[in-house]
Amino acid sequence: MTLIEARNLPRHVAIVMDGNGRWAELRGRPRTAGHRAGSHAVRRIVRTARRLGIEQLTLYAFSEQNWGRPDDEVDALMNLLQEFLVSERDEILQNGIQLRAVGNTQKLPPHVREVLDELSVRSSANRRMVLSLALSYGGREEIACAARTLAQQVRDGTLDPAEVTEEALARHIPSVSFGDPDLLIRTGGEVRISNFLLWGAAYAELFFSRTLWPDYTAEDLYEAIAAYQGRQRRFGLVPFVRPSARPSELVGHTEPAPT
Ligand code: FPP
Repeated sequence: MTLIEARNLPRHVAIVMDGNGRWAELRGRPRTAGHRAGSHAVRRIVRTARRLGIEQLTLYAFSEQNWGRPDDEVDALMNLLQEFLVSERDEILQNGIQLRAVGNTQKLPPHVREVLDELSVRSSANRRMVLSLALSYGGREEIACAARTLAQQVRDGTLDPAEVTEEALARHIPSVSFGDPDLLIRTGGEVRISNFLLWGAAYAELFFSRTLWPDYTAEDLYEAIAAYQGRQRRFGLVPFVRPSARPSELVGHTEPAPT
């Protein structure tokens, strides 16, 4: 069992949920079966994160590039998303979870947008944990969009080129409002960021897990958090030595694995 320090949790955990397709192929099943199993893992990890007291969990559920997958796979993902939002609605609302979405959500089919918008509004006052879904999302796309906005302001004469600063650009990048991720996890064994939270992840601690997303458990999340807690974050500055935790400050995952 992996033990972690309860008082030194990453405030914001972001996850690239990769490996659904391979999980299905290993079992001789269609890729969509992998996505369905992946949605059970989403449920499991949302619960684990909430119990742990993670303030923000951001999940890469559908990239801008994913629209290029075969139509039946895109349709299946959209249906799963809608199913997830409907089946988790009560749990999200009753457990103080605020649901947010980032990305070009106008491109989502109406049946998904409807439940997404409804749940986002109904959960907006919840404060226990923010669950953000990156949907039709691309890191480069949102940075380019912010740059276009500033370029227009310069053209209109409302912004001086000298005012095109990091802060000015960041104000127009939607995912920046979520705060920078402290820990960015990618499952499925690949070692890349794939256009996820490019701006915010500038100083994120990266953790790559070999576990395929549908198999990802609370124990895997604890392992990533333990690795994070062993890192020294410097943000380009000099080392800060943190005292190590006492045994009474350590927690492990003890609850039965939820489905
Ligand atoms: C990447 O695996 C995963 C996705 C493109 C979609 C993630 C979707 C889910 C986890 C399920 C639905 C989401 C929610 C929020 C209910 P891949 O298909 O690229 O896997 P591969 O690399 O093994 O092919």
